[in-house]
Amino acid sequence: MDPFAELVDYEKVALSAMAEAATSEDLEAVRIEFLGQKKGRLRTLQSLIGKIDNEQRPAFGKQFNETKTNVASALQRRQSELSRPESVASGLDITLPSIAVEHGRRHPLTQTIDEFKDIMGRFGFSVVEGPEIEDEHHNFEALNIPEEHPARDPLDNFYLAAAKSAAGGPVLLRSQTSTVQIRVMEKTEPPIRIVSVGRVYRPDTIDATHSCMFHQMEGLMLGDDVTMSQLKTVLSMFAAAYLGHDVGIRFRPSFFPFTEPSVEVDMNWGENWLEIGGAGMVDPNVLRGVGYDPEKVTGFAFGLGIERFCMKRHGITDIRRLLENDVRFLRQF
Ligand code: FA5
Repeated sequence: MDPFAELVDYEKVALSAMAEAATSEDLEAVRIEFLGQKKGRLRTLQSLIGKIDNEQRPAFGKQFNETKTNVASALQRRQSELSRPESVASGLDITLPSIAVEHGRRHPLTQTIDEFKDIMGRFGFSVVEGPEIEDEHHNFEALNIPEEHPARDPLDNFYLAAAKSAAGGPVLLRSQTSTVQIRVMEKTEPPIRIVSVGRVYRPDTIDATHSCMFHQMEGLMLGDDVTMSQLKTVLSMFAAAYLGHDVGIRFRPSFFPFTEPSVEVDMNWGENWLEIGGAGMVDPNVLRGVGYDPEKVTGFAFGLGIERFCMKRHGITDIRRLLENDVRFLRQF
C-alpha cells in the first residue's frame, strides 16, 4: 500500500478502535497497539520513512506528525470521557460546569434585621415580638408620657379612626418599639434581657433619611444591679460585632420620658459619628407602673433605627430606595 494511504488507514482504524473501547482497560490496549513505543503500529509506519524517495520524504514526515498528533489527542479525549463518573452514563454529567440560576434574595433590610437579632442573641438577649397596633396605655402612659404631652398630639401620630382597643379606647400605629418593653415587663419578672425588632410609624416629612414607616430594634436589660456602663458596653460590643472591628460609642445627654438619665447614642463610623438611636436607664416611674420596686430593680433600654445602619453599611444615600421594591436596586444585595 502507498505509505501515505497507510497513514490515512492507520488513523481511521485507530480512531474507530478508541471509539469502541468501552473501559479504560480496553483503551489502554488500544493505546499500546497504536501508539506503543516498542511494537506499536506507529513505530512500523515510522520505519517506512527510510523507504520513501528523498523528494517525498518531507511531505511524508509532515503527514506522519499530523497523524500522530490526531491519534494522541483522540486518545486523550477518550481517556477523559471514560474516566467520568458513572452518573454521566445515566445522562447526568456532574462534571459539567454549573449554570447560574437567578434566585430571589432577602431584602437588605431583612438581612440587617437578621444580623441584628443574631448578634444580640449571641449576647444572651432573646427576641420577642409586639403588636404594631397599640393602645394609648402602652404607647404613651406606661412610658411616662402623660395626656398633655406634645408627643401624643394626633397630628404627630397615626391614630386609627375605625378601631378601638379591647378596653374601648383609641388605638394607633405604634410610634416606637419601646411599647414592647412595657408588654414584656408586665408579664415577666426580672432578670430580663430582650430585643424586639419591628416597624414603627410616624407622620414625619419624608426625605432622604426620614420615612413615615421605618424599623427599630428595642433592647431591654433589667436586674438587681444593671448599670449605665453596662449599657455602653453592650452597645460597643454590638457595634463592634456589626462592623467587625472595635468602634467608638459616644453618649450625648438627651431626654426621653421613659428613661432617666437619657442619651442619644452615636457610633464612630470612619471619620464621622453616626447617630444610632436613643437609650437610658429605665425611669423609676415606668418600673413602678409595671409593679416593680425601683429600689430593687434597675435596668437600661435602647432603641436603634435600623434603616440608617443599613444605609450606612451599603452606602445607600436615600431611605426611599429601601421601600420602592425596584428589583434593579434590590439585586445588588
Ligand atoms: C426613640 O424612638 C426611642 N424610643 C428610643 C429609646 C428607646 C430611648 C429606649 C430610650 C430608651 P428616636 O425618636 O430618637 O427614639 O428614634 C430612634 C432612632 O430611630 C433614631 O436614632 C433614628 O435612627 C430612627 N428614626 C427616627 N425617626 C425616623 C424616621 N422618620 N425615619 C427613619 N428612621 C428614624
